[in-house]
Amino acid sequence: MQAVTFTTPGGPEVLHLATAPDPQPTAEQVVVRVRATALNRADTLQRRGLYPPPPGESDILGLELAGEVERVGAAVTGIAVGDRVCGLVGGGGYAEKAVLDARMAIPIPAGWSFAQAAAVPEVFFTAQETLFTLGDLQKDETVLIHAAASGVGTAGIQMAREVGARVLVTAGSEDKIRRCLELGATAGCNYKERDFADWIKEVTNGQGVELIEDFIGAGYWNQNLQSLKVSGRLVLVGLMGGVKVEANLQLIMGKRLQIFGSVLRSRPLADKIDITQRFRRRWLPLLASGRIVPIVDRTFPLAQAAEAHRYMEENRNFGKITLEV
Ligand SMILES: NC(=O)c1ccc[n+]([C@@H]2O[C@H](COP(=O)([O-])OP(=O)(O)OC[C@H]3O[C@@H](n4cnc5c(N)ncnc54)[C@H](OP(=O)(O)O)[C@@H]3O)[C@@H](O)[C@H]2O)c1
Repeated sequence: MQAVTFTTPGGPEVLHLATAPDPQPTAEQVVVRVRATALNRADTLQRRGLYPPPPGESDILGLELAGEVERVGAAVTGIAVGDRVCGLVGGGGYAEKAVLDARMAIPIPAGWSFAQAAAVPEVFFTAQETLFTLGDLQKDETVLIHAAASGVGTAGIQMAREVGARVLVTAGSEDKIRRCLELGATAGCNYKERDFADWIKEVTNGQGVELIEDFIGAGYWNQNLQSLKVSGRLVLVGLMGGVKVEANLQLIMGKRLQIFGSVLRSRPLADKIDITQRFRRRWLPLLASGRIVPIVDRTFPLAQAAEAHRYMEENRNFGKITLEV
């Protein structure tokens, strides 16, 4: 099969199409003829040699895919050759074929393109686990979602809106904020123009927010602690602004804050199956009915993966970037 590979880690230019061995399914897996995959920030880190795949996973990039089942493992039930499925994988999406655990295969809703389906698993699972399973976001609470125009952010805004939460967002341009408001955010702050902690103080009458979904880490640490209400929750989901902080423990203790961290890729298979099942029960029906939509910014051919990575690293996307295979 053809796959996007690289031999030496580096910039987007290291990515190129090459021949790779076809993946072989275990008894519980299906082989998917991949029609679309999607980019995640993690792919850019892996390309730079900073985020190796977990043991046993394909070293080909790509954490999600959509396509048609081409072959089923001996123990697989309920899925047949030809079924249109999408799902989360530990690697291997940027290729013509990939293996997917059958218990993590999600039927693609009628009328959806493969690109739309490929744009769902990673960001909707992440938003589900961080805003709800860990963050316990409730109706009438206020959540602050950073990097809200990201793939994860655009999923999270819609899910939070759906439960009746008030959604405040940060993003790096007026245009991105306007588009977040169209998805259901209540108000937004361009973090390049003003200190978001001052803005939160102003829009919450000095109260702060119940929950923060953070992808920036060190760069936002102090402002995040200031922006939380008493008993507020901070969920660390990304570290785009650095990993090391000097912490004001007095603030954490005095405000009785709760701080969570979350990763998806390195979790055990059993967790990922549970996450998929939770998603199918609670969120897939809302996606299938069109109440919530996957936001696809742009689709590139697989052969232009390098260009797609450049586009992501220039922070130009609103929502997901997909690759057509
Ligand atoms: N823990 C997990 O399980 C998990 C799973 C999936 C993703 N993630 C993390 O979630 C984050 C979003 O991923 P994604 O693939 O959805 O991202 P994405 O679509 O590439 O969007 C990221 C956006 O973040 C903003 N940004 C970048 N660097 C920034 C900085 N230093 N300070 C403030 N904003 C910055 C940019 O928008 P602006 O123009 O607004 O600056 C950029 O477009 C990443 O950190 C990723 O690693 C974590």
